[in-house]
Amino acid sequence: MAANNNANLLREMERVAALVDRQFDTLLQVPDDARRELYEAMRHAAIGGGKRLRPLLVMATAGLFNVDESCAIRAATGVEALHVYSLIHDDLPCMDDDDLRRGKPTTHVAFGEATAVLAGDALHALAFGLLADERTHSDPFVRAEMTACLAKAAGPAGMAGGQMMDLVAEKSTFDLPTVTRLQQLKTGALITACVEIGAILGRVTKEGRTSLRGYAHDLGLAFQIADDILDVEGDEEKAGKALHKDAKAGKETFLSLMGLERARDQAQMLVDQAKSHLNGYGAEADLLRAIAEYTITRDR
Ligand code: IPE
Ligand code: IPE
Ligand code: MG
Ligand code: MG
Ligand code: MG
Repeated sequence: MAANNNANLLREMERVAALVDRQFDTLLQVPDDARRELYEAMRHAAIGGGKRLRPLLVMATAGLFNVDESCAIRAATGVEALHVYSLIHDDLPCMDDDDLRRGKPTTHVAFGEATAVLAGDALHALAFGLLADERTHSDPFVRAEMTACLAKAAGPAGMAGGQMMDLVAEKSTFDLPTVTRLQQLKTGALITACVEIGAILGRVTKEGRTSLRGYAHDLGLAFQIADDILDVEGDEEKAGKALHKDAKAGKETFLSLMGLERARDQAQMLVDQAKSHLNGYGAEADLLRAIAEYTITRDR
């Protein structure tokens, strides 16, 4: 049963990754004018590589409610565009100053800082454009709700706020509740938005989304603990990015506060708790359960 779920997960991850690549390829055709380099930088960052976990979460959640896949993939690509923008900016010299991302040179290394900033800006706009487009959903209320959901997750009460706290974390000593809030904003907010957007596409009301939100909340924290564990003991080749950066930057993380073993236990506890939020669903939620397990067993 578990092995079966895992095989399904890997197949689904590959399938969604190929669909997302195809969407970006179509959306980002390089024009024959002075914007060429901008499009090339966007393609460099967005096409090929990455686990595509966020689009997979959108698709898996939309799948619970039999949403048309050709619509769901557009919303899923929108969320991935937002994520890719955040990675481009996160890697800039003024932030984490990283040279490697998804096994390739970071966008600013390949195209220069100014073009990388613009590629991030343009992917950010593309994300909202996709959610607001009528080809993504015919109902304007659904489109508005998805757009507002992503805006909240990306802004100062979400990812951008978490990234700010992450910068401050290098210079101050944060306690566990503060680090938990940092991680929740920096990574958890967008992961929760993926699940919400999948359910919004399925016309599930805000109240009807409570258990899915609980799942996503626990999953997001487990995901960031796993990122911090990988930073300490992962393989750079597999991760496709530089590791051992958090301790070097003097950053307070779950690991620095509770140690490797307790962090691992905490991540497993969060995954179990995430899955328990899905108890109201049957086998149709097995993909979401498998995603939760994968979040902490992954090596990249
Ligand atoms: C990396 O995200 C940045 C964090 C929020 C921790 P992922 O680990 O999902 O990166 P990709 O998309 O697979 O490259
Ligand atoms: C990045 O977090 C989070 C966002 C881009 C919002 P990290 O800085 O920990 O991600 P990695 O380790 O560079 O992928
Ligand atoms: Mg960072
Ligand atoms: Mg980083
Ligand atoms: Mg990290």
